[in-house]
Amino acid sequence: MSDTFDLVVIGAGPGGYECAIRAAQLGMSVACVEKRDALGGTCLNVGCIPSKALLHASELFDEAGHFEKMGIKISKPKLDLPTMLGFKQQAVDGNTQGIEFLFKKNKIEWVKGTGVLKGAGEVEVSLTEGGTRTLKASDIVLATGSDVAQLPGIEIDEKQIVSSTGALELSKVPGKLLVIGGGVIGLELGSVWNRLGAEVTVVEFLDFILPGMDAEVQKTFQRTLKKQKFTLKLGTKVTGVEKSGKGLKVTVEPAKGGDVEVLDADVVLVAIGRVAYTQGLGLDAAGVDVDERGRIKVDAHLKTNVAGVYAIGDVIVGPMLAHKAMEEGVALAEMMAGQSAHVNYDVIPGVVYTQPEIASVGKTEQDLKDAGIDYRSGKFPFTANGRAKANQQTDGFVKILADAKTDRVLGVHIIGTQAGEMIHEAVTIMEFGGAAEDIARMCHAHPTLSEAMKEAALAVDGRAMHM
Ligand code: FAD
Ligand code: NAI
Repeated sequence: MSDTFDLVVIGAGPGGYECAIRAAQLGMSVACVEKRDALGGTCLNVGCIPSKALLHASELFDEAGHFEKMGIKISKPKLDLPTMLGFKQQAVDGNTQGIEFLFKKNKIEWVKGTGVLKGAGEVEVSLTEGGTRTLKASDIVLATGSDVAQLPGIEIDEKQIVSSTGALELSKVPGKLLVIGGGVIGLELGSVWNRLGAEVTVVEFLDFILPGMDAEVQKTFQRTLKKQKFTLKLGTKVTGVEKSGKGLKVTVEPAKGGDVEVLDADVVLVAIGRVAYTQGLGLDAAGVDVDERGRIKVDAHLKTNVAGVYAIGDVIVGPMLAHKAMEEGVALAEMMAGQSAHVNYDVIPGVVYTQPEIASVGKTEQDLKDAGIDYRSGKFPFTANGRAKANQQTDGFVKILADAKTDRVLGVHIIGTQAGEMIHEAVTIMEFGGAAEDIARMCHAHPTLSEAMKEAALAVDGRAMHM
């Protein structure tokens, strides 16, 4: 077994595994160091995949309780949580084994253990099976991802006080779940346990949920969450969590200061963001620069300041999204192979897999106002869309923001049942530099939810047909 490769990747998450596969396709000899006992990183093991499996199962459980209105009579659905968690685990295993298959197919060696960068060209691995192995490569990619941001004074035990990882594994439905952070994780996993019967309270420091999203989407979704019986405590901070008997006492106060309130909870989910993970990676000794938030600094070609050492994914600046990491992994492999490649950071979609879903790409109205860009906005509600009416799923809207002079699409924001699938029409148009008029003139099948995209595009020019 050789210890010399063209490329060594540390971390087999979406960034690392896609980089390894693309580099192997391009003829490089590749090793990928991963310390987990399964490939796929946060996303496949404790992130995207298990959370979506539980969102899917809990959504069907919830829907099954409302079939009667469609004339389908069944007895009240009963929850078998261990089987649902087993369903989630099967989804994880199927995906992680899929990556293992792809590694074998592409002759990528999975070196099981923890990698330490020893400087340009060298990685030392503390092998899981014991001992060490030194790998040499002209190119090294750091793709070590991110970890849960901790709240000082609140210790995560993954049983009662959990991060997203523990929230994917709860052995019973908590009576009261208190979520700290009204961001993506808090609302997705809050939705899972809400649908399965927990009373969910979300404590958010800011005066709104889902920071960075379109303000109208935020407000619409806030109303929807209240209809779904979420309790939202906005502009509020948690100052402490104490164990009390079998439960927890959570102390909260207004973010701007004021009266303290104590809330009861059975489980607390800490979901206040994630931080770059570089623990034990040897960055200091190797002289790799990081920024003020501990993220590895890279240039436009994903190069660090150390020759032949690159970084991608959650461990560098940018949205912490699996597909952003993947795009960087592929582009980097192609650049290392001497091709030209790039990532279009202006057109990276974001999806929140709640019900309704929320999906967004490009600029928000606030971004455009801040940048002084003159824009026109076209909005179309699902209440006026035939398919949404037929399905009785009329919550939400599509909003298209286009340059006032050129009509070029600058941002699209959707809240609606299948927003996560619909957003890709907008991604395609934006990638090709298209205009709202282009969407307006494309034939959309009837009756589909996507017709709302066409109508929103027509609305940019004040000529929506069904409003
Ligand atoms: P990671 O996936 O974090 O992979 C890094 C890997 O490196 C890990 O496996 C780690 O064990 C390994 N590693 C670290 N240090 C070393 C070392 N020194 N030696 C060896 N191995 C090491 N994103 C989406 O786009 N869509 C979603 O629906 C979505 N859902 C999410 C749900 C949850 C609950 C969470 C927590 C995240 C979710 N994300 C989602 C975010 C997504 O998981 C991350 O953006 C993505 O995993 C980042 O990929 P990465 O390759 O940069 O790092
Ligand atoms: P987040 O950044 O989305 O949300 C964190 C929220 O916590 C923010 O609203 C913030 O204002 C709030 N907050 C911070 N400190 C607080 C405090 N002390 N008290 C109360 N509120 C506080 O982070 P989250 O939800 O933890 O997710 C982490 C990352 O994982 C995100 O960057 C996201 O990109 C990724 N992710 C993506 C998913 C998707 O694409 N569907 C799903 C889940 C995670």
